[in-house]
Amino acid sequence: MRISVAPVPSKFAGSEPDSAVVVVDVFRASTTIAAALAGGARFVLPVTDVEQAMKLAEPYAENEVLLGGERECRRIEGFQLGNSPREYTREVVAGKVVIFTTTNGTQALNAAKDAATVLVGSFINFSAVADAATGHEAVTILCAGNNGGLSLEDFVCAGGLVTRLAGKTTQLDDAALAARAAYKSLKADLARALTTTEHALRLAGLGFRADLDFALKVDSLPVVPCQSEGRIGALPT
Ligand code: MLT
Repeated sequence: MRISVAPVPSKFAGSEPDSAVVVVDVFRASTTIAAALAGGARFVLPVTDVEQAMKLAEPYAENEVLLGGERECRRIEGFQLGNSPREYTREVVAGKVVIFTTTNGTQALNAAKDAATVLVGSFINFSAVADAATGHEAVTILCAGNNGGLSLEDFVCAGGLVTRLAGKTTQLDDAALAARAAYKSLKADLARALTTTEHALRLAGLGFRADLDFALKVDSLPVVPCQSEGRIGALPT
C-alpha cells in the first residue's frame, strides 16, 4: 500500500487508477456532510458556486431539497442551512437532497471528483472512513485547507488516518510522514490543540464554538460518505 497526503489542494496531483482519495475538511465541510448523511439525507450534491447550487435545486419540489453551505463561514442568502453540522439534524434533513457549497471543502471535493473512490473524512467518522479506505493499493488524503493554505486540523486528521492505515510495508510520502508525526504529538489532547487553530479561532469568534466540539468528537457518527458521479451518499455499513 502507498499513502500520500496533499497538505493543501495545490499539492494534489490527481489520483492513480483504482486509488482512493479521502477529502478532509474538519472545520467544517466534511464534518457537516457526515452529519447530513448520518441524519438521513438522501444524498449531498457538492458544488463549487452559489449560482450552480440554486440552478441544481430548480427541478426539485420545495419539500425535497435543502440548500446548505457558507461564504465567509455564514449561511448564504436564500439558503435554508449554513455550514454548522449541528443544523443538519434528522428532523431537518431526513429524506432530503442537500445541495451544498462551501469555500474550501466543496472545491477540494471537485478536485478529487475523477478518482475511482472518493471518501469524505473527518474526526467524527474517523475509524469508519479508515476501514473503508483499507485495501486500496494507493490512498491519497486531500486536506481542504483554508484559502489555499494549510489547516492544522485537516493535517492532523490526515495524520490520524495515516496512522490507522499504515502497516509495516506501507510506503508513505514525506507529507504523510509529517502528518503522522503531527497527529502523534497532538493526539493526547486533540481538543486543546485544535481549538486554537486559525480557522477554529475564527469560527469561535463568529459564535460557532460548539461546532468545534462537535467536529472533534472522534468516531461519534460512524458514517462513510462516498462521492460518485457528483453525488455523495453513505456507503452501506
Ligand atoms: C470551508 O469549506 O471552507 C469550510 O467548511 C468553512 C467553514 O467553516 O464554514
